[in-house]
Amino acid sequence: MMKLGVNIDHVAVLREARQVNDPDILEALFVACQSGADQITIHLREDRRHIQDVDVANILRHSKVPVNLECSINRDILNIVSDLAPQRATLVPEQREEVTTEGGLDVFNHEEDVAFAIEQLHDAIIPVSLFVDPSIEAMEKSKELGAEMVELHTGSFANLFNMLHSALPYSNHSVKDLELPRYKLSTLLEESLQNIKLSAQHANKLGLQVAAGHGLNYHNVHEMMKIEEIIELNIGQSIIARSVFTGLKDAVKEMKKLTSR
Ligand code: PXP
Repeated sequence: MMKLGVNIDHVAVLREARQVNDPDILEALFVACQSGADQITIHLREDRRHIQDVDVANILRHSKVPVNLECSINRDILNIVSDLAPQRATLVPEQREEVTTEGGLDVFNHEEDVAFAIEQLHDAIIPVSLFVDPSIEAMEKSKELGAEMVELHTGSFANLFNMLHSALPYSNHSVKDLELPRYKLSTLLEESLQNIKLSAQHANKLGLQVAAGHGLNYHNVHEMMKIEEIIELNIGQSIIARSVFTGLKDAVKEMKKLTSR
């Protein structure tokens, strides 16, 4: 069984762009749930650029599926999340200037802060997932710190895949560091997939649940489906982007079809 977590932050991005209650995040919640989402994922950012505190409260009250609330290890945010009591919290790194979550949580240099955050969330009976870059060391550290779950950051994999298999390199958003010959991209992509696979297997052996997310889309998600140890995918941008053309219902249904096993 693979769980599909639909990240609806981008609906709130659109709403905040106009500072009106349109599109309505609760409508997105209902449609996503009706169309096959097994979980709703939202990120309460410190800068509140999309999801607001009241959205989290409303989503928790009305969601028919578990809510995975992403947050940073900032103490004020942790207090809010502890009070809101989602079914799970995922700790993510946050930098104000970033466009989206770049890279996983640095569990090595912020060990004490992460441990404190996990303890606080556990005191509020909230299971914790850590959004980390895939490596054996990060799996071991996540276990040692007391997390129940890891979410493997698939951003590097997705960038490599998209530079190799889509029009990305010919666009304004080409990933400059990856403007490389195709054979080189191909090798790096294989290495990246191997890394995700070995990390997922290691985490599983350690007794951690394994999710993956970031940059996954209708074209690259099949690679994640080959890794048995991954039991959950959290996907936002590609689903909301497709929904502009097909409607959210079909966009979620199509992703659910691709991620069913
Ligand atoms: N998982 C985590 C922990 C994230 O921070 C994000 C982005 O907010 C996602 C999944 C979804 O990524 P995307 O929007 O690229 O599908």
